[in-house]
Amino acid sequence: MGLFSRSKGVVGLDVGSFAVKLVELKERKGGEYQLQRLGIEPLSPEAIVDGSIMDSSLVVDAIQKLGEETAVKNANFATSLSGHSVIIKKIDLPAMAPEELAESIQWEAEQYIPFDINDVKLDYVLLDEQAQADQMEVLLVAVKRDKVNDYVSVIQQAGRAAALVDIDSFAVQNCYEANYDIDPMKVLALVNMGSSVTNINILARGSTVFWRDISFGGNQFTEALQREFNLSFEQAESLKRGESVDRYSAADARSVLDTVSGEMAAEIQKTFDFFGATSSEGAVDELIVSGGCALTPNLVDALKDRFGLPTELMNPFRRIQIKESDFDIAWIQSVAPMLAVSVGLAIRRIGD
Ligand SMILES: Nc1ncnc2c1ncn2[C@@H]1O[C@H](COP(=O)(O)OP(=O)(O)OP(=O)(O)O)[C@@H](O)[C@H]1O
Ligand SMILES: [Mg+2]
Repeated sequence: MGLFSRSKGVVGLDVGSFAVKLVELKERKGGEYQLQRLGIEPLSPEAIVDGSIMDSSLVVDAIQKLGEETAVKNANFATSLSGHSVIIKKIDLPAMAPEELAESIQWEAEQYIPFDINDVKLDYVLLDEQAQADQMEVLLVAVKRDKVNDYVSVIQQAGRAAALVDIDSFAVQNCYEANYDIDPMKVLALVNMGSSVTNINILARGSTVFWRDISFGGNQFTEALQREFNLSFEQAESLKRGESVDRYSAADARSVLDTVSGEMAAEIQKTFDFFGATSSEGAVDELIVSGGCALTPNLVDALKDRFGLPTELMNPFRRIQIKESDFDIAWIQSVAPMLAVSVGLAIRRIGD
């Protein structure tokens, strides 16, 4: 931690392409958390496309609206990115002192990053110093600089500070760790299914061993319904949630959704296969799913059938106190999986 960076709480702001989610938590004695503020603001589908901010004014408006609705005072926001512009690699380096590592990481990184090193922001985490006596394991994180700037800029234009920029997958992991006891003997796949991207983070012995973002999510389900029944985006969104639209009912939607669920399972399977082929950790034992797309009717069961593994919908508020007098708990529970990233961010502290 830096000399001047007192450890301070942040507001979690998940700028997703379907919706912007805001969560603020209060840490209580004994490391417990209590929900302070929560808001979800949908974005029009043209605001963020494939993880790129296309219409920043729509995103700024959504952040401002959330700020007003929740009356959040803390101006320090934490946000996160995912998708193509994020590269995460585990690399082995010869053992060296921390200062030496800090100096040489840029140079070391060049051979692992498929972008011009000057176009990325680099970060790294020392994973296992004692893996082998003369080696150390480092998790290298590189994010395209212009992408970071775009996300920081919408937060600033909304009158807040981007105190911390994280990665979606790591925020999901943070959320899971805060709410569940991790069995270090198990290989867990955290699968966060959003609208345009699905973040897969495989944990073994309690830490990340494999990471991948795939371009598949809730949009694929919505688009399939649009095509099949000739509907607008909004109509297809409603139908997907089980509402009737025109003459179409949830039952009509079901076979279309099940087909896309099969495709989603196949995409996840590819990632698991690749993990199995390149890692010595053994096969995945359990799936923990989150993200709004995880609420798609029958999707969790389809994954359970496909993989034949325990598959659980993550509850980001499992260990977070929510005052009944302040919040609509039934509503929060019904959207909870969408909030895994924002809860994970809200737990972060400046100076982490
Ligand atoms: N009850 C529901 N039933 C089915 N799908 C739902 C439900 N609620 C949300 N979704 C879907 O979840 C997706 C949004 O999830 P989420 O908020 O996690 O994505 P995002 O973070 O905005 O997107 P991304 O991270 O991909 O940019 C949308 O595709 C939406 O249609
Ligand atoms: Mg998301």
